[in-house]
Amino acid sequence: MKNILLAGGAGYIGSHTAVELLESGYDVIIADNYSNSCPEAIKRVEEITGKSVKAYEVDIKDTAKLEKIFMENDIDAVIHFAGLKAVGESTQKPILYYRNNIDTTLSLLECMKKYNVNNIIFSSSATVYGEENPVPYTEEMNRGTCTNPYGWTKVMMEQILEDAAKADDKLSVVLLRYFNPIGAHESGRIGEDPQGIPNNLMPYVSQVAVGRREQLTIFGNDYDTPDGTCRRDYIHVVDLAKGHVKAIEYVLENDGVEVFNLGTGTPYSVTEIVSTFEKVNDIKVNHVYGARRAGDLPESYANADKALSVLGWKTEKNLADMCRDTWNWQKNNPNGYKN
Ligand code: NAD
Ligand code: UFG
Repeated sequence: MKNILLAGGAGYIGSHTAVELLESGYDVIIADNYSNSCPEAIKRVEEITGKSVKAYEVDIKDTAKLEKIFMENDIDAVIHFAGLKAVGESTQKPILYYRNNIDTTLSLLECMKKYNVNNIIFSSSATVYGEENPVPYTEEMNRGTCTNPYGWTKVMMEQILEDAAKADDKLSVVLLRYFNPIGAHESGRIGEDPQGIPNNLMPYVSQVAVGRREQLTIFGNDYDTPDGTCRRDYIHVVDLAKGHVKAIEYVLENDGVEVFNLGTGTPYSVTEIVSTFEKVNDIKVNHVYGARRAGDLPESYANADKALSVLGWKTEKNLADMCRDTWNWQKNNPNGYKN
């Protein structure tokens, strides 16, 4: 049995990945400081899978405390989800973002080196393609210019991991560039539970639908896109989680650095998201059109061919599934995990 350490594994993507790994026969250890999550998510992962998860409450920046986990467990691979991710907040608190996101990465790499753990998967983002690359994005494009500190932390962490692998032949690194994860596990027991006012589209849509927010503002309808609103590559979080299982198989078998886009390759507009959510769930989402949001790109979507040809992974769920499963989670957990 292989032991996989999920740093930041109590969060939205980590908890869904934990379910898929457990169901594929891996053992899962979670290290999280619960700065944007809670232990209840781990309990629910155990409830869905009927398997137990070893959990540590730890700030991953704290190398001495992190080391205890490496001492106590025979870890085969690490998946590094632990990061702060609010784009707007990162422009207000850049130092917090650089400190947290870079230091968690360095602490993990130091412990891995010391305890001879040679496999790491990193949660990167489509944001690293920056402003200058044309869509659809392919993995061999150069990293671009980001519009915010959050994006720069991802660019820097990719570079750090590449440099670490260059200096150490044994190290195997997989950089997964996520597009826009939405949806929830079909059980409705785990899902996205943002603190405060959601920054992202889908949780905002579902909180308007459930009556927690009055209306959605669609940021700009004067873009050069088919309906004037921005287009994104939305991916069901369970498909994304399954991509991590494939990436674990790959990272355990290979050396060096490999980069994969995890997206569907098909963009949808903000207006299409709202209308599909309304139709699939037979519920109204009050919305108005407002000004553009600073830093938004008109379009962002993947070329997802490489993940299919190398990992044998492709998405299985469609936009209707994403909207249905988001609503199933939201209506059964109107206040997230605080029910
Ligand atoms: P999330 O906030 O739900 O999960 C991140 C987890 O990391 C949380 O449980 C948080 O408590 C934990 N964490 C943060 N700093 C920590 C620290 N110093 N020590 C221990 N734990 C810490 O976010 P998510 O949506 O699950 O995203 C996971 C990763 O994927 C992040 O790195 C994020 O930047 C990246 N990503 C997310 C998206 C997205 O749209 N959700 C898109 C691209 C990339
Ligand atoms: N949007 C609205 N109203 C809202 C929220 C969002 O119209 O209340 C629009 C945005 O303007 C954008 C689209 O919905 O056009 C998607 O916005 P999100 O904030 O959900 O997602 P982004 O594409 O801006 O960013 C997300 C993550 C980043 C990640 C990026 C690429 O938040 O962390 O995807 O992976 F870097």
